[in-house]
Amino acid sequence: MQSVAIFNTRGGSGKSAATVFLADFLSTMFQKRVLVVDLDPQQSSSVALLGDERLMAGFKAGQSLSKLIERSLSEELDEASVREAVMVRPRTSRGRKGTLYLAEVAVLACEREDWHDLDDYLRDRPASRRPATVTLLRGLLERVAEDYDIALIDFPAHETGPMTQLGLRAADWWLFPCVPDRAGIRDLEGPGKAIREAYKDHKRQIRGLGTLLSICQSASSSEYRQAYQTLIEASERQHIPRLFSNKARLLIWTGARNALDDTLWGEQTTLHHKYKDKPLYEAIRALCKEVLERLDLPEDEVRIQFSLLEGFNRRMREFFIRAGGRDRSAQTAAGSLPTART
Ligand SMILES: Nc1ncnc2c1ncn2[C@@H]1O[C@H](COP(=O)(O)OP(=O)(O)OP(=O)(O)O)[C@@H](O)[C@H]1O
Ligand SMILES: [Mg+2]
Repeated sequence: MQSVAIFNTRGGSGKSAATVFLADFLSTMFQKRVLVVDLDPQQSSSVALLGDERLMAGFKAGQSLSKLIERSLSEELDEASVREAVMVRPRTSRGRKGTLYLAEVAVLACEREDWHDLDDYLRDRPASRRPATVTLLRGLLERVAEDYDIALIDFPAHETGPMTQLGLRAADWWLFPCVPDRAGIRDLEGPGKAIREAYKDHKRQIRGLGTLLSICQSASSSEYRQAYQTLIEASERQHIPRLFSNKARLLIWTGARNALDDTLWGEQTTLHHKYKDKPLYEAIRALCKEVLERLDLPEDEVRIQFSLLEGFNRRMREFFIRAGGRDRSAQTAAGSLPTART
């Protein structure tokens, strides 16, 4: 398993959106086993993936990352304990062969109150205990490293304390989501500083995976062009990771907001249905390809555009019915084209 910190100290930079989009596409279209580690007490990515009800039911059943971290302070936890804390956004059902029904995504989420208590508790620990505690989350994720290909770690805004440091130290890579506007580029050295602080006195360093231009206004505006130039310069100075290509940038889309709204998704939702805004769909697909290439993981893309196939099937059926034949598609294997009349 390779773990990726989706990290920016600035709020509203698209961290949770990037986490959810990557989780949906990497699991569904690229067949990766994805674990989302939601280190934000606001739980935006957990709610978007699981929905409120499933999340609350999970907490009630004791499935909580904050509880797990708390327990690991005083006892050695085995892989079964970590597995028990994982909640699952199940694969959407009714999938026919070749359809891009949403694949399963695993989620580790923190309870709000616990998160703050834990952050305070860790902050008050004597400095001599720091090396042992800062690697707690990495240790827990290592227990289930065989279960997943990629872990995506979502972070809270404006927090650089102990809980954020646990997440940064658990990560192998840093993906930097950034809004390319005046506010978004104001403190480009801030996230790097937090990372250096988490890794001080440590040999292994986190590696830059990429800078993602997220929630971008029109790419032709002068504000965008100036911000873009500043980001290029910051990446050349190695303050931020190198940019993903322009194909992978996420412009402002209404579809993006909808994709994060858990109330709109049910048991039969497909990837196409959830991300029906085509430019958004293509941008996330391009982003996944670049992420997989930089992680040196195989692409394994499921290429079937089911919505097109479905449309084609329907038109064929209508044609046969109009031509006076029977609708034989019901007799054929699910999802396959109707056979010609004899
Ligand atoms: N491409 C997009 N187009 C339009 N709206 C978007 C897009 N990406 C994200 N948003 C919206 O922008 C807001 C901020 O995004 P998001 O919550 O992902 O940022 P964040 O960095 O996780 O914020 P926080 O720091 O509060 O955790 C959200 O309301 C989200 O729905
Ligand atoms: Mg967020």
